[in-house]
Amino acid sequence: MNNKTYGHFDDAHREYVITDPQTPWPWINYLGNEDFFSLISNTAGGYSFFKDAKFRRITRYRYNGVPMDNGGRYFYIVEERGESKEERIVWNPGWKPCKTPLDSYECRHGMSYTRITGQKNSVEASVLFFVPLKKWCEVQKVTLKNLSNETKQLKLFSFAEWCLWNAATDMENFQRNFSTGEVEIDGSVIYHKTEYKERRNHYAYYSVNTPIQGFDTDRESFVGLYNEFDNPDAVMEGRPRNSVAHGWSPIASHYIEVELKPGEQKDFIFLLGYVEQPQEEKYAPKTPGLITSLGDLDRTFINKVRAQQTIAEFDTVEKVDKAFAELAAFWDDLLDRYTAKTGNEALDRMVNIWNQYQCMVTFNFSRSASFFESGVGRGMGFRDSNQDLVGFVHQIPSRARERIIDIASTQFPDGGCYHQYQPLTKRGNNDIGGGFNDDPCWLIFGTVAYIKETGDFSILDEMVPFDNQPGSEVTLFDHLRISFNHVVENLGPHKLPLIGRADWNDCLNLNCFSWDPNESFQTTENNSVGSKAESLMIAGLFVVTGKQYVELCQQIGKGVEAQRAQKEIDSMIEAVKQHGWDGEWYLRAYDFYGNKIGSNECEEGKIFIESQGWCGMAGIGQEEGMVDRALDSCKKYLDSEHGMVLNNPAFTTYHVEMGEISSYPAGYKENAGIFCHNNPWVIIADTVAARGNDAWELYQKISPVFIKDQTLHKVEPYVNCQMVAGKDAARPGEGKNSWLTGTAAWMWLTASQYILGIKPAYDGLLIDPCVPQTAKEYTVKRKFRGGEYLITIRNPKGVQKGVSSIIFDGQPLQGNVVPAAEGSHTVEVTMG
Ligand code: GLC
Ligand code: GLC
Repeated sequence: MNNKTYGHFDDAHREYVITDPQTPWPWINYLGNEDFFSLISNTAGGYSFFKDAKFRRITRYRYNGVPMDNGGRYFYIVEERGESKEERIVWNPGWKPCKTPLDSYECRHGMSYTRITGQKNSVEASVLFFVPLKKWCEVQKVTLKNLSNETKQLKLFSFAEWCLWNAATDMENFQRNFSTGEVEIDGSVIYHKTEYKERRNHYAYYSVNTPIQGFDTDRESFVGLYNEFDNPDAVMEGRPRNSVAHGWSPIASHYIEVELKPGEQKDFIFLLGYVEQPQEEKYAPKTPGLITSLGDLDRTFINKVRAQQTIAEFDTVEKVDKAFAELAAFWDDLLDRYTAKTGNEALDRMVNIWNQYQCMVTFNFSRSASFFESGVGRGMGFRDSNQDLVGFVHQIPSRARERIIDIASTQFPDGGCYHQYQPLTKRGNNDIGGGFNDDPCWLIFGTVAYIKETGDFSILDEMVPFDNQPGSEVTLFDHLRISFNHVVENLGPHKLPLIGRADWNDCLNLNCFSWDPNESFQTTENNSVGSKAESLMIAGLFVVTGKQYVELCQQIGKGVEAQRAQKEIDSMIEAVKQHGWDGEWYLRAYDFYGNKIGSNECEEGKIFIESQGWCGMAGIGQEEGMVDRALDSCKKYLDSEHGMVLNNPAFTTYHVEMGEISSYPAGYKENAGIFCHNNPWVIIADTVAARGNDAWELYQKISPVFIKDQTLHKVEPYVNCQMVAGKDAARPGEGKNSWLTGTAAWMWLTASQYILGIKPAYDGLLIDPCVPQTAKEYTVKRKFRGGEYLITIRNPKGVQKGVSSIIFDGQPLQGNVVPAAEGSHTVEVTMG
């Protein structure tokens, strides 16, 4: 094992502190909580966008560059120590891109902010990056400090490269792009207004709150055609070009001369902002105040008023510090809704800080923009977003409510759904279409979680369209009913759910049959006519979410519908027992022809994790011992040092009847990778079966905060990644695709509701912990529907599950649901 570390946690500040810029992969953070977003790496790489990483990309970023993570918001500091070139030191506080060795370096990734500090030759440069709440800009507060005894003459160059808005065409349509770029320079503000004269009503700007001594807006003039970001011409010569971009590649760079006396410190506030304005206010009037028609507008210059207003809101250190304090207060409030004290530092940090933080990020971005998702490929996923909101709903329920309506609006009248939608338009994405037969179930899953958290049944009466078509509205409850029915109406020969394009596993493409390397497994036409392909994963998911649906119907007085639904669930359970049990575990599927997948009879892929997790969570055949046997089989065949792999043995050859899953090399992604997302399903199934020791063991393997070998793990040690290379891979334990994964929400459910056992229910909080025998005592503080509960759980007998008594506000409680009530409450729970 490699013991080298690149940083450490600072829990008091809720930060991860990176102390070595050469992390094994860029370790990033996210800025912004609602509309304006940025990705920022530990060396200040990354980019910004407004709402939609594809259609409103503000700054340019080149994925998979050489070196990795090139381009971002860079500050170049030039110290002139004499006349000659040799006496000039050029460096960046975040080490890159110049990579001049620093005397010290530190990057603190916190809750929606990043602070990067570097020191060189007794100058300290610290940059705080954040997006103020509700604002459409990224603040960059640069603090330069002279730590020496002599006066320092410094030159500060900022740098950002504009993206021509559509991140996809920006990287391909050069015959057009090289002619369209336009900027304006006004004092210390550089405006990017490409395509503004035609259909756009938005522009971007980069400003600084001090007079500048020069600027550049043309990349070639600033960098030089034969130079790179690590030695831009202008910087290396310590002399800006004052270039004005016309086409080619517009950038924004300010040039500021700074003198610092011994011990002196100066702050500069840079703002990278975005403005959208009504058509009639696009330009300033020719004569002040006089606009009766668009002809009265002066089309030479954009209307800068909105930008100037925002700039004025952040033009002093005091104003910036105040906005930063507001951001901190926002996070204090969010993270105060569930806090655990377990005596295990790492677990507390996961539950109280990083897991909840990642849930916010996945809620915001779905699978669109990370250092593995390029922001142009995928919008918001139907199933992904429903899962993400379950990890987020306790934080800002109103946003989860809005999201549910948005998602449901992309459903079709028959219950099927668009698989993805664009965040900007909220419209279903036609490139991928629908036909993923697990999708409808997730709407029930998301909505029920929302109601249990908030008690807000009124959401069920909201009128929600199909496919965003006005006039097609039915209630959200109807959408749920139709979702439930979609499974029932699409059963195969074994009365198990037909899989359609795919279920949760996008790569189990049973109706695809692709031999053409030029087509995508994900979007190519499927041939499901006459298909017998059925999914045991959907069967389990249907039983879990179907039970939720039944309970919901009972809550709202729809007893007949509840009974009808229960019958369907009972038949599904029967079908699984009869046709979905392989002897030691649940089958995974039947293929197009009706052959078994995930059976001992198969040569490869004998056992799959998804059906064990879902049928286990559903408790199918628990009395007959099926759940326990399935979980034992998971331990035997799927488990490894770093977690459970998706399937075993891995596929070594391409199976056309299974599609993409068998396209991956053994041990990676859906082919026997440790697909972290589905490990919590097994952990939760463990808790259903009262196996607290197993649950805890696997939880630790999947939690980033328990990672031991940071070099091997490669990606950020403070958030989950989608996949860790499995036991059949070349480097088991190597992580990939960090940040945007359903793992976040599932790990949150697992820890908060199933292990620590505090579960929102219709009438209150259901207390049902499942812990390792060694757990003695812990507390959880939970805010819930206006009440604040201090819950202490004791385990004197060292059991794994079972509550023997609950004292609620000093009185013994019948059952284990603590009633929802405003005010402060104490809850004393004894297990045993
Ligand atoms: C990706 C997708 C998710 C899918 C999973 C398994 O993470 O975002 O929707 O379920 O892969 O294929
Ligand atoms: C597949 C990936 C899977 C992802 C899907 C959708 O190639 O393996 O994880 O969910 O594409 O883009």
